[in-house]
Amino acid sequence: MDVTKILEADHRKVEDLFDKIEKADGDARTPLINELKTSLLGHMELEETVVYPAMEPVTGKEDVVEGNVEHDLGRKGLEQMIGLAPDEPGFGAALDACKAGIKHHVDEEEDDIFPKLRKDGREVLDQMATPFMTKRLELGLPMTADALSAASNKDELLEEARSAGIESASAMTKDDLAKALAAKMAS
Ligand SMILES: [Fe+2]
Ligand SMILES: [Fe+2]
Repeated sequence: MDVTKILEADHRKVEDLFDKIEKADGDARTPLINELKTSLLGHMELEETVVYPAMEPVTGKEDVVEGNVEHDLGRKGLEQMIGLAPDEPGFGAALDACKAGIKHHVDEEEDDIFPKLRKDGREVLDQMATPFMTKRLELGLPMTADALSAASNKDELLEEARSAGIESASAMTKDDLAKALAAKMAS
């Protein structure tokens, strides 16, 4: 299983939420900001507890330290933005700064760290799969069936479905396994 594909789907969701917040006015921003906060904090915790520690032998320590520092900066930016939400003066500037910081970090993961893991860390990625799914379930961090399907082959989905306690998993198609796991993650 290539969990980086799922992390990339999380990144797209966060970008989409930033866009929606920019387009929304006043109180209409509040539910979007709440969703952004849950998605972003959960994603960062998942990377910090499961992905970053496991990737260190492949990427080196510097990438891990840098990732953690950028997450801290991201959390500070988010806090500042939330403090000015939904429409205190300066909210737009805080949103721009938070979004730019996250973009820089996401580009680094997608252009440098994830390709390194795919090239030299297949084994690390495979070992990460079950702890990754377990932590995601614990965090209540949903994912789409499409992202799951793109990240996994059928056997991998079957293994994760079994360990998540999904009944009759062995009789399911790949698509059904992805849907059942996605539904489990969202419940
Ligand atoms: Fe990420
Ligand atoms: Fe990250």
